[in-house]
Amino acid sequence: MSQDSPRYDIIIYGATSFVGQIMLEYLAQYSDEPIKWAIAGRNEQKLITAKDANQLAHISHIIADADDEAALRAMCAQTKVIISTVGPYALYGETLVKVCAETGTDYCDLTGEPQWIKAMLDKYEATAKASGARIINSAGFDSIPSDLGVYALQQHAIETTGKPASQIKMRVRKLKGGASGGTIASMLNVVEEAGNNPQLRKLLVNPYVLCPDGHTFTQRQTNHKKAQYEEDTQMWIMPFIMAAINERIVHRTNGLLHNQYGEQFLYDEAMSAKKGIQAWGMTLGLGAFMLGASFKPIRNLLAKHVLPKPGEGPSKAEQLNGSFDMRFYSTLDNGSKVVAQVTGDRDPGYGSTAKMLTQAALCLSKDVPDLAGGFWTPAAALNQPLMDRLAQHAGVNVTIMD
Ligand SMILES: NC(=O)c1ccc[n+]([C@@H]2O[C@H](COP(=O)([O-])OP(=O)(O)OC[C@H]3O[C@@H](n4cnc5c(N)ncnc54)[C@H](OP(=O)(O)O)[C@@H]3O)[C@@H](O)[C@H]2O)c1
Repeated sequence: MSQDSPRYDIIIYGATSFVGQIMLEYLAQYSDEPIKWAIAGRNEQKLITAKDANQLAHISHIIADADDEAALRAMCAQTKVIISTVGPYALYGETLVKVCAETGTDYCDLTGEPQWIKAMLDKYEATAKASGARIINSAGFDSIPSDLGVYALQQHAIETTGKPASQIKMRVRKLKGGASGGTIASMLNVVEEAGNNPQLRKLLVNPYVLCPDGHTFTQRQTNHKKAQYEEDTQMWIMPFIMAAINERIVHRTNGLLHNQYGEQFLYDEAMSAKKGIQAWGMTLGLGAFMLGASFKPIRNLLAKHVLPKPGEGPSKAEQLNGSFDMRFYSTLDNGSKVVAQVTGDRDPGYGSTAKMLTQAALCLSKDVPDLAGGFWTPAAALNQPLMDRLAQHAGVNVTIMD
């Protein structure tokens, strides 16, 4: 941090977003620790309405458009950490990252857009290292559970055998919840960018695209494209759409931790299904959606008439009744089988994401004063302190199963 004593611990930028409004609701009821916070966005009336809905009239609001560099600088000067939910990040996110990197302001976001993270790394990593800004991308359902689940299993492996696990397979056992317009907009934007740019398509298939410069990882990684019965885990599996970002974040963590998981580390993610017919049905449905979305007229039609719009998302009941359960399977060096589990008590993308993002930002603001500047991942930067916070305050538990 470059400032001596910023007014706020955290500012929620994009407080009017679907996920931002859940964060306001969460913080309005949060009394576990004192927090100095404010909200920000581009539309004053919407910010006031969001505050009123949660009896938060006493919380300050700051106006800043994502393209208004001067306003973003003035906002950054007031806080230790900026949380941004202003997405798609590839469309609206760059100026804020630039300002944070230049001013030494810590930053967390929810991006699941690997191509954008790569562009930000190339442009601003050196600046953030120099200014002391700690930048943490993907601090929501993508990719906190994956990153912490792997981290916890690897700590267990190292403690019990003296060596990291050479392979971990993450299988989603339960995922209950819907998608929001903001997430759909981000996904469609990645498809659009990739459609227009063959170089980007090449970049997106590289599992090590986000690894630190000079990394030495060369192992070919598994990329699940179809349904299949998996003998060792004894389950039907199918592609998991978030694998594209989660696997890359996990490999970056390995690089940032100086290859703590090993140079040859293998990691892949898939969803489990109860039956083969379900696995094939979901796989074909996902394939048809991605194929349709790659054609501009169909993409526009889907965005206009079928999919949720920006600002829309799962109902309150869907958030409360939602949950997730992710399992991390591995065989350790001594032959013992181990399973780590990460669970959440709300729908993954919004109810749980809002709590995880808030706690990641509080952890960055309060718990890791000695962390150096640069672009971090949740597990490399926040690891055990974040796991403790998530268990205590966010209904997200990371455990090694017996
Ligand atoms: N990683 C995860 O697990 C995860 C989970 C959920 C969401 N996400 C991502 O998080 C982001 C937010 O999702 P969401 O569904 O909550 O989005 P949303 O409801 O569509 O909200 C977008 C936000 O961006 C703001 N915005 C748009 N253009 C702006 C500009 N020029 N200047 C300032 N603010 C601007 C909007 O302000 P107005 O209200 O004034 O229009 C709104 O606050 C998306 O990128 C989504 O992909 C990730």
